[in-house]
Amino acid sequence: MKKGGLFISFEGIDGAGKSTHIDGLTQAFRAQGRAVTLTREPGGTPLAEKIRAMVLNDPMDAMTEALLVFAARRDHLQQVIEPALMRGDVVLCDRFTDATFAYQGGGRGFDLETLLIMERWVQTKRGLEGDFIRNPDLTVWFDLAPEIAAQRLAGARIPDKFEAQPLEFFRRVSEGYRQRMNASPGRFARIDADQAREAVWLDVLKSVIARSWLV
Ligand code: TYD
Repeated sequence: MKKGGLFISFEGIDGAGKSTHIDGLTQAFRAQGRAVTLTREPGGTPLAEKIRAMVLNDPMDAMTEALLVFAARRDHLQQVIEPALMRGDVVLCDRFTDATFAYQGGGRGFDLETLLIMERWVQTKRGLEGDFIRNPDLTVWFDLAPEIAAQRLAGARIPDKFEAQPLEFFRRVSEGYRQRMNASPGRFARIDADQAREAVWLDVLKSVIARSWLV
């Protein structure tokens, strides 16, 4: 089993059903003696949580949104994620940069080349073998048709700015996730989220066991 730090992110359109599985993995890792840092984006630090409130509630243009989520990410990486990985924790992060490519890039149509530049600015890390861009070791993508996600969300709670978007927006978000997966297939585990919760959970567990991170 891998003893060093481990970075796992969870992605999907709103309503895809990530939360219970993130909690499940937290318990599974802890049961096997691993320290888990459970966190989310936008957010995860006091500053980044303030930015989250703005991004989720206030109208703004797509570039402003992209700059804000990356500013939040910078603080989150420096204050929480990098120190946790240094300690050897398992970092479980509810959304990370793929969400920016999917929502700001796909959903809102913001320029992907510019997002790649921002990713490089914010996430470049000096390693022993040179610079690299910090990204998750594994990204669990809960893939669900926007129609089904919308049914699951309906009436569940008061929608935020993104949850209130039309189906067409979420089709573009899904396409954004697909493109990110195609660019780094080894990093992604695509989970068919249109199954009973228990079946989804088994697939999530399998994706981690396949990498020998849980037994
Ligand atoms: P979400 O993670 O679904 O939290 P909750 O379950 O509490 O609603 O909400 C975060 C929202 O922020 C989601 O709609 C996606 C959006 N988002 C972006 O638009 N860009 C980003 O870079 C990130 C991380 C999230």
